[in-house]
Amino acid sequence: MGVTLHVNGKESVVDAAPDTPLLWALRDHMGLTGTKFGCGMAQCGACTVQVDGVATRSCVTPIDSVVGSKITTIEGLGGTHPLQVAWEKHNVPQCGYCQSGQIMNAAALLAETPKPSVAEIKSAMSGNICRCGTYNRIIAAIQDAAGVKS
Ligand code: FES
Ligand code: FES
Repeated sequence: MGVTLHVNGKESVVDAAPDTPLLWALRDHMGLTGTKFGCGMAQCGACTVQVDGVATRSCVTPIDSVVGSKITTIEGLGGTHPLQVAWEKHNVPQCGYCQSGQIMNAAALLAETPKPSVAEIKSAMSGNICRCGTYNRIIAAIQDAAGVKS
């Protein structure tokens, strides 16, 4: 049987129980390991992907709840998204663990608010934890990608 998921523009059948968290379907069944496991409790944002363009915590999202939706992971941004270019320019990552979740959340922000203020960036990004404290570089990179003054 399996559950059909639409990920990064392709349909895949995942042989997993319907209540399997999307995070594990992506990582263990589809080999998309760019999405990370942090807390498993919707508290840190490391597992953030987009579901129909909305930043979503995949650790607490059962796969049967996203059947028919368009799921995008960090792999789906292709490496050339303006945020990824800005991330590299500003040397944002330290250990890197939280960063795919940060970028996926930032991408959802810019899709909705192309020219965010610093306050809007801080508000939108506040739920994505970085233990390395890269917050200032994250804000600078988002502003750069958005073409707003830093
Ligand atoms: S692993 Fe999903 S929010 Fe922390
Ligand atoms: S770069 Fe290390 S947790 Fe964010």
